[in-house]
Amino acid sequence: MVVNRKILTLDEFTIQQLRQFPTATGELSSLLRDMGLAAKRVNVEVNKAGLVDILGDAGSINVQGEDVKKLDIFANNQFMGALQHGISCAGIGSEELEDFVIFDDEVSNNSKYVVLFDPLDGSGNIDVNISIGTIFSVFRRVSPKGTPCTKEDFLQPGNKQVAAGYIIYGSSTMLVYATKRGANGFTLDPSIGEFCLSHPNIQCPATGNFYSVNHGYFFKYDKGVQKYITACQQKPKSEGGPYTQRYIGSMVADVHRNLLKGGIFMYPGTTDRPNGKLRLLYECNPLAFIVEMAGGRATNGQQRVLDVQPHQLHQRSPLFIGSRQMMDELENYLKETNEANF
Ligand code: AHG
Ligand code: MN
Ligand code: MN
Repeated sequence: MVVNRKILTLDEFTIQQLRQFPTATGELSSLLRDMGLAAKRVNVEVNKAGLVDILGDAGSINVQGEDVKKLDIFANNQFMGALQHGISCAGIGSEELEDFVIFDDEVSNNSKYVVLFDPLDGSGNIDVNISIGTIFSVFRRVSPKGTPCTKEDFLQPGNKQVAAGYIIYGSSTMLVYATKRGANGFTLDPSIGEFCLSHPNIQCPATGNFYSVNHGYFFKYDKGVQKYITACQQKPKSEGGPYTQRYIGSMVADVHRNLLKGGIFMYPGTTDRPNGKLRLLYECNPLAFIVEMAGGRATNGQQRVLDVQPHQLHQRSPLFIGSRQMMDELENYLKETNEANF
């Protein structure tokens, strides 16, 4: 008898994918399960964020006698802890930690992957009840198994990512992850505490009508970016214009909207910060990978984000990411002004 149950959990989905690869060890499924578990724990705390004044502020002691940590430190510890206790990850890099952490124990030294993450993205939005996220990037280590992982394992270009994902803590909580086989989205069903496949095989529309950028810095952007933004506003109705501006200040949420509905997100360099604000390894690279796997594109204004050779854990990069045709159009403006400067 075949039971007709349509909904697949994250675990069931990753295990089914495994079956198609007889040589696969299951370590990636196990890693995604670890990330999912940490995400559920973070989700519970994010949902209680408004109660912080009642339950205790950062730095105080809560009812169980534990220190109440800032949510981004809490999230960092959950993701790091889940990966350290798992069997798939040899070390991590995090926005919240100055340096890479090499787990260096017998199980971890034999693990296949290293993970880079931004434990809470858009954390400035916590206090005002706006969606926030987690972003992660997974690389197969290049150092030999059986030894502690090394810096080189983390400093690989984004095109070497095996998987990348994000969690969005929003009106519902979702985990989206991509491998070279495509991008899939899972929504947390709170009644069973499981991420369930809700957005199979995500395809980023080739074009859309959202553009997401911080307009406050308009006069700090270079001429090409300014011209493109102006073109978004002046786009004739016959070409689907003017585009709608949407910028929430949580990149995960902005990119998620644009990935599903079609649009472009930009965090360009500014006169005072030529490399912008976002970090290459745990913000730009994973989102670039996911969006590309869904048919979109991502550049730093000069080259494909995924082809940049990283040098440091916390290095910054400008980011332009989204629907393919909108990216092409942006690039024409950037090219025009770059050429005019020479
Ligand atoms: P984080 O909370 O991890 O520091 O990242 C916030 C990022 C990103 O999510 C968002 O799009 C951007 O910062 C907003 O920056 P501006 O306020 O400069 O636009
Ligand atoms: Mn961030
Ligand atoms: Mn962060």
